[in-house]
Amino acid sequence: MEQRFVKESRCYKTSRIFPTDVNNHNTLFGGKLMAYIDDIASIAASKHCRRSVVTASTDSVDFLFPIRPTDSVCLESFVTWTGKSSMEVFVKVMTEDLKTAERRVAATAFLTFVALDENRKPVTVPQVVPESAEEVRLHETAVHRAEIRSLRREQSKKFADVLTTTFPWE
Ligand SMILES: CC(C)(COP(=O)(O)OP(=O)(O)OC[C@H]1O[C@@H](n2cnc3c(N)ncnc32)[C@H](O)[C@@H]1OP(=O)(O)O)[C@@H](O)C(=O)NCCC(=O)NCCS
Repeated sequence: MEQRFVKESRCYKTSRIFPTDVNNHNTLFGGKLMAYIDDIASIAASKHCRRSVVTASTDSVDFLFPIRPTDSVCLESFVTWTGKSSMEVFVKVMTEDLKTAERRVAATAFLTFVALDENRKPVTVPQVVPESAEEVRLHETAVHRAEIRSLRREQSKKFADVLTTTFPWE
């Protein structure tokens, strides 16, 4: 089984907060941050497996602090755990006050990506090997998160089965 280190998928993205990025509270619009998160997480997944990838799920995005126009926002992302064709990707969102240099973790997220072959079928990915203490901690706790995700997926499928797809005007 091919193996890759966590560090081989690690990537960073740093941005300013422009007026077009904020909500009516003058803090970073949540949807904008979620797009940044999916974007960087997909790059980490692609770097790990060097295949086409799709987002299978996003567990949750926990917004811990508002992000202000006076902050820079830096996202760090890497693959924490691998199944057969799936990869768990962690995203850490850090802010830095550009005047005071104060840094905070403003949000975290776990996403799952699936690698696809040329026929768009799930394909086996290399196993990921953690090294640092943070990587090992995230790797060890991932199996539990994967079990919860699997249960939630079954529930989502059952829920979708009982929902209607008709529009009010039909
Ligand atoms: C994700 C997808 C490829 C899974 O395909 P599938 O035919 O259902 O495949 P399987 O049931 O065999 O699952 C393949 C892997 O994905 C994982 N998976 C599937 N759905 C998942 C979910 N909601 N959350 C976490 N993992 C999921 C499975 O656990 C399995 O992992 P493993 O190979 O490591 O054991 C398919 O559901 C899909 O294409 N979804 C839409 C993706 C998309 O459009 N994303 C947004 C744009 S990128």
